[in-house]
Amino acid sequence: MNKESIKAISLFCGCGGADLGLIGGFNYLDNYYKHNPVEIVHASDIDPKAINTYNRNFSHKASVDDIRDLCFKEVDADLVIGGFPCQNFSTVNPTKKPEDRKNQLFWELARVVEETKPKVFIGENVRGFYTLKGGLYFHLAKDRFEELGYKVFHKLVDVSLHGIPQKRKRIFMVGVREDLNIENFQFPIETHGVEGMPSAVPLKSVIDSLIPDDPKYYFSKRAVEGVKRAKPNMKRAVYQNLEEPCLTITSHLAKVSLNSRDPVLLVNEKKELYRRFSPLEAARIQSFPDNFKFVGSQGDAYRQIGNAIPPVYFWKLINSINEQVFDAPYKQAQNIMKRALEPNSYPLL
Ligand SMILES: C[S@@+](CC[C@H](N)C(=O)[O-])C[C@H]1O[C@@H](n2cnc3c(N)ncnc32)[C@H](O)[C@@H]1O
Repeated sequence: MNKESIKAISLFCGCGGADLGLIGGFNYLDNYYKHNPVEIVHASDIDPKAINTYNRNFSHKASVDDIRDLCFKEVDADLVIGGFPCQNFSTVNPTKKPEDRKNQLFWELARVVEETKPKVFIGENVRGFYTLKGGLYFHLAKDRFEELGYKVFHKLVDVSLHGIPQKRKRIFMVGVREDLNIENFQFPIETHGVEGMPSAVPLKSVIDSLIPDDPKYYFSKRAVEGVKRAKPNMKRAVYQNLEEPCLTITSHLAKVSLNSRDPVLLVNEKKELYRRFSPLEAARIQSFPDNFKFVGSQGDAYRQIGNAIPPVYFWKLINSINEQVFDAPYKQAQNIMKRALEPNSYPLL
């Protein structure tokens, strides 16, 4: 039985982390993530630099657009995905008032879902979106999607439990249109770091050498002295244990300081040599393959990488959705045919 490809709309697509997972066809750490039957019919983001990277890496093209200017009433889609902007919901450093409705772009994701009525939508955000104000924003969004006729499943996911060398916790929402009668949705099962599974992938698996290609990645002597003088209650460099997954890669790695909670590497304790990650290393920690190219300055690359949804997790998520939602009617039809062809079976009425 031939199955048509899943038509997807990608909102807030950034450089395309989620979209790479959606489409598949890439290698990461000795595994091949096969192509998925997905066609991206629309991808857009407000950031032209992220779109440059996107268009460098995919054969289909994304556009530079403010989501608030777009209308999707005429677009035919089975799936809408959107990792809406998260800075406002960051528990560490919210940049805008999360209570201000115009900073809540999940309403735009909901509007596109209302306009296109896809079979499935996926929303993603930082943990703060789920926890801030006792979960107020998360529940506002969930209630809206339910009003629109979707059954909403959610999970706070730590991607280090899925073979990615990074402790990154994000809230994922999967909405399935009610008429599809999906009672339960099982998010991808953890493959690493839980009982009965191999241990989490260590950071060392994506770091070729502690000595960087370029000395510019070292922190200056002054920065190191500054940290040594810092009071015990001040934030200070969190150098990473190479035997464990890395702490979360954020979008401001270009400006990472030693007086912060951002992850850094300790190159030589005696010589007090610390360094930041290169963009290639940051991209690998996020599970991008090495052939994914970031366009623009290093600062642009770090921002796009830190903002991205790890492709490997998204690949696993879309495969779970494919199996449990998109493929379900085909599987049922195949089972009926199989049973009908069995000897002694009754003819189908
Ligand atoms: C969390 S990032 C998305 C990352 C992306 N899904 C990925 O996996 O690479 C959020 C994105 O929302 C974009 N954005 C912010 N405001 C927007 C708006 N009004 N319209 C469209 N995109 C917007 C940002 O430029 C940023 O790329």
